[in-house]
Amino acid sequence: MCGIIGYIGKKEVIPILLEGLKKLEYRGYDSAGIALVDQNKIIRRRVEGKISALETSLKKEELAGDYGIGHTRWATHGRPCEENAHPHQDCTGAFIVVHNGIIENYLAIKETLRGEGHNFETETDTEVIAHLIEKYYQDNLEKAVLRAIQDLEGAFAIAVISNHDLQKIVLAKMGPPVVVGLGEEEYFVSSDLNPLLSYTQNIVFLDDGDLAVITPSGAEFFDFSGNSLDKKIDRIAWNPLMIEKSGYKHFMLKEIFEQPQVIRDTFQGRISLDTGKIFLSEIGIDEKRLRDVRRVVLIACGTSFHSSLTGKYFIESLAGIPVDVEYASEYRYRDFILDKDSLVVTISQSGETADSLAAMRAVKEQSPMTLAVCNVAGSSIAREADGLLMTHAGPEIGVAATKTFTAQMAALVLLALYLAQIKGNMDAKTSLDLTQELQRIPHKIEKILHQADAIEKLALKFKYASHFLYLGRWANYPIALEGALKLKEISYIHAEGYPAGEMKHGPIALIDDKMPTMAIIPKDRVYDKTLSNISEIKARLGYVVVVADENDKDIRSKVDEVITIPSVYPLFSPFLTNVPLQLFAYYIATFRGADVDQPRNLAKSVTVE
Ligand code: M6R
Repeated sequence: MCGIIGYIGKKEVIPILLEGLKKLEYRGYDSAGIALVDQNKIIRRRVEGKISALETSLKKEELAGDYGIGHTRWATHGRPCEENAHPHQDCTGAFIVVHNGIIENYLAIKETLRGEGHNFETETDTEVIAHLIEKYYQDNLEKAVLRAIQDLEGAFAIAVISNHDLQKIVLAKMGPPVVVGLGEEEYFVSSDLNPLLSYTQNIVFLDDGDLAVITPSGAEFFDFSGNSLDKKIDRIAWNPLMIEKSGYKHFMLKEIFEQPQVIRDTFQGRISLDTGKIFLSEIGIDEKRLRDVRRVVLIACGTSFHSSLTGKYFIESLAGIPVDVEYASEYRYRDFILDKDSLVVTISQSGETADSLAAMRAVKEQSPMTLAVCNVAGSSIAREADGLLMTHAGPEIGVAATKTFTAQMAALVLLALYLAQIKGNMDAKTSLDLTQELQRIPHKIEKILHQADAIEKLALKFKYASHFLYLGRWANYPIALEGALKLKEISYIHAEGYPAGEMKHGPIALIDDKMPTMAIIPKDRVYDKTLSNISEIKARLGYVVVVADENDKDIRSKVDEVITIPSVYPLFSPFLTNVPLQLFAYYIATFRGADVDQPRNLAKSVTVE
């Protein structure tokens, strides 16, 4: 939620801040602003709306500065408008703050500060930080920031500048992510890696309780007591091309088309083509401890929760270990019970989702083994788990998760096979057969992607739909949930994902000729059952689209529309069935003129509770 950016160096500041904000815009896009220091004068500009509005507004003036900070907002406290847009300032306009997070005790602080004579201009929680810094400032900005943050309760990543202490950006982190990019005589501050990739691959990830002081001659790091820290510099393998649209109309479409490669990259070096053996010692949890795992708990939010549900089918079927899948936002408040032989896996694309991180931290207090499945190296979840299984999807810019969902399924199927193999639950021939089938998945997805035009035509028929029901059973029940979520979040059509067998227990009452159904019916162990569920819908005049096996010739006469997938080992069918549903949602959303990459009200990385 919200993106923060900062630059200090010899280049022109405004273009760097604007470019950076555009790359962070997926984190929030209801208002934006920048603040610059020009010699000893502070210049602050803010707008309601997207970064393009800020860019247009800045073009009207001749502005320049020596260094600066910027922000793109996803509103939490205070409606989206220019007044509430960041950066925020104190009474004197000398202390300027951008903030990602939530200050929970801001009302109490505001009341105290008002009593001391401070005047407030906004409805935001952030503004109190600027006033606290003003209150505590004596002769040094970082000292004032260190003192101010002692009064804060909640979550924050802040960047602060002041014309009382020039040539300095001060950062502090407690919760939301913030990184420092180390260039050649130039330094960058950002909520994530994307804006930095064109300038440097040398990154310092701040930990909770870290403060950084960035000047033209370097970056220094401290803890919140002011003690100096020796931070590790990470070298990042992502490159700037990965965050371009490369000719696609939207990032989401590009990311859907990248899925075959994402699977190949996630399998790369982890499967022996000759024997089917899985190599995952890289995850960093002792194999002997993993061999003793008796129960697996998968915790996640949103789309990552859906990939976790597919992981349940993979792990239970392949490794024979019981699996629970939990919403992180619920689990963190539960009186959960874990044994020392429980493996708790947190699945998160960003590695920064506040609920997932909090649930993982709560789990660690009971100290079973924790493993992270993450797409962002250096993220909080990736760093704090005992073990790490990276998904190699590359940066995902579209707010709706697509390729990272597929990469998570790929990582979870590897984990399932690995657990099966080290526990001795799978013979060599089965291992080889299954891994060979997995290697064929990317090519099969490519065949589905070739049908994109046909799926686009089909989607046009549903441009005006108001509701949609998504049904699936067994391993494709999670895909019904995910298909419905994709449609909801990018097209704003109400969609419900449901286990097909549960229809008759209630939702069937919804069926009429205005409630289309998308049913997932590959050739699997529940094929006949799902077919019966579809017949029940047809008998009530429901319009039915199915995702079915290309060799299923009979299905055409029983439903209204068919999207085909290549034949596949049934347990692995979610890798295929999901892809047409992503395309279907994408095309409907584009026909409705929706902002596919930046859907309303959403943010890519939910770093607040
Ligand atoms: O970064 P994470 O995987 O932890 O994010 C979890 C959810 O916020 C995310 O999947 C969200 O549901 C997406 N909008 C789905 O498209």
